[in-house]
Amino acid sequence: MRKALFVTSGVLLAVFALQFAFAAVGAFTKPAGDSAYTLHRITGSAVIPLLILLMTLFAALAKAPGKLIGLAILPLGLVILQPVFAGIANGMTDDGGATSTVGLIIGALHAINAIIMVHVVVNVMRGARKLGEAAEAA
Ligand code: HEM
Repeated sequence: MRKALFVTSGVLLAVFALQFAFAAVGAFTKPAGDSAYTLHRITGSAVIPLLILLMTLFAALAKAPGKLIGLAILPLGLVILQPVFAGIANGMTDDGGATSTVGLIIGALHAINAIIMVHVVVNVMRGARKLGEAAEAA
């Protein structure tokens, strides 16, 4: 299960990289329609949350310390914020449909939150590796 935890956290990091790329796909798609972000939306609302749940399950099954299990579930709370930030950012426009400064700041939080999630998962991966090393040394 330690190996499964290590591998799942690695897969999640790779999917995060894809998710950043899908955000760029959305930004550069012309004409910019609602479907431009379909890949980003599916990965962010289904694939990533499922992988986080799997990672947490493996952390629990590997009998990881509570701190590591907490670190594994933390991105689930953060990923729930993503559609909230995106929704507010998209909705905060003036009567003419122009973005507002507050809306843009909240949109930026969506990107910063993504970077935070990457760092949390890197730490889960490190924790999983240490867990494996400790088991081998015992
Ligand atoms: C890896 C972490 C990320 C996750 C889990 C994530 C998740 C999501 C989700 C679920 C949505 C859809 C919201 C909705 O339709 O209600 C969304 C929208 C969006 N995301 Fe992300 N996102 C991530 C990273 C990023 C990054 C790094 C950027 C760009 C720098 C970005 C830019 C956007 C934009 C512009 C939208 C709005 C698309 C639209 O107007 O339909 N996202 N994201």
